[in-house]
Amino acid sequence: MKPTLNSRAVPTHYLTGEELNAKQTLALIDRAAELRAAPHVSNVLAGKSVALIFEKPSTRTRVSFEAGVFELGGHPLILRPDEMQLSRGESPRDTALVLSRHVAAIGLRTGADEKIQDLAAHASVPVINMLTRDHHPCQALADLLTLKQEFGALDGLKLAYVGDGNNVARSLAIVGALAGVQVSVAAPEGYQLEPVAGAQLTDDPYSAVKDANAVYTDVWVSMNDDADTAAARRKALAPYRIDDKLLAAAAPGAIALHCLPAHPDEEITPAVLYGERQRIWDQAENRRHAQKALLETLTSGS
Ligand code: CP
Ligand code: NVA
Repeated sequence: MKPTLNSRAVPTHYLTGEELNAKQTLALIDRAAELRAAPHVSNVLAGKSVALIFEKPSTRTRVSFEAGVFELGGHPLILRPDEMQLSRGESPRDTALVLSRHVAAIGLRTGADEKIQDLAAHASVPVINMLTRDHHPCQALADLLTLKQEFGALDGLKLAYVGDGNNVARSLAIVGALAGVQVSVAAPEGYQLEPVAGAQLTDDPYSAVKDANAVYTDVWVSMNDDADTAAARRKALAPYRIDDKLLAAAAPGAIALHCLPAHPDEEITPAVLYGERQRIWDQAENRRHAQKALLETLTSGS
């Protein structure tokens, strides 16, 4: 009998990545690699549905979760705000109580983290963060799988994140630390991550990428940022663009990563985005494999 991670009464949610310990996180990445090699070996969601609520736009998360639930034998229910009473004022609490009667898990993409915390507090099935203002842990799982695919082992790798100290940077710091990956974050004043999970913080991109095995960036204007801050963000973050010169300052064999969507010539040059050292399109694929392993872990208790 494998140890039980989840019980119906107190489900294990996945809101920040800290809900799984280091051993569980590494086991999940190993399982994701197995599922990448054999996408149809698991039928863990047979006869079950998973509710996937998108209050913000998505390409990768929506497609990878929807296809992933299907590959696990389940039925994905994609729910948009205009189709739900949530948008007319029904509370996250009541939404959680009702959805828990019908589905095996709930995914939510939203703004404030308080909303997903509220939903999770009242759900009797696992709640998964599909991106909030402060966290994007499913992205970090796929990124670790991509590092494992490239380098074999995760422990001792260094990942340099260069750009806005946002939800993606924070999740990389948290989930990366659990997997033994040293994360350094280079951002200008006003855009830096708070001290989190032992991440090294600097305002110098060249110091961050020194000895790094992977150089990572994300958009400069996130979905939950005020649109009227965009011009100031682009100005402050311009020196943090990933280009061939910055990549050359990393460890030999370093790869370039980006969670996407990309803005070529803003945070990353087209030469890097489509070049030989990127593993960005693998990252996009790995979302499905990593999230399938997560769904298996949270819904089957193994
Ligand atoms: N990386 C990511 O979450 O992409 P989407 O916004 O397209 O889901
Ligand atoms: N930081 C970005 C990530 C998009 C996947 C955002 O929140 O919009």
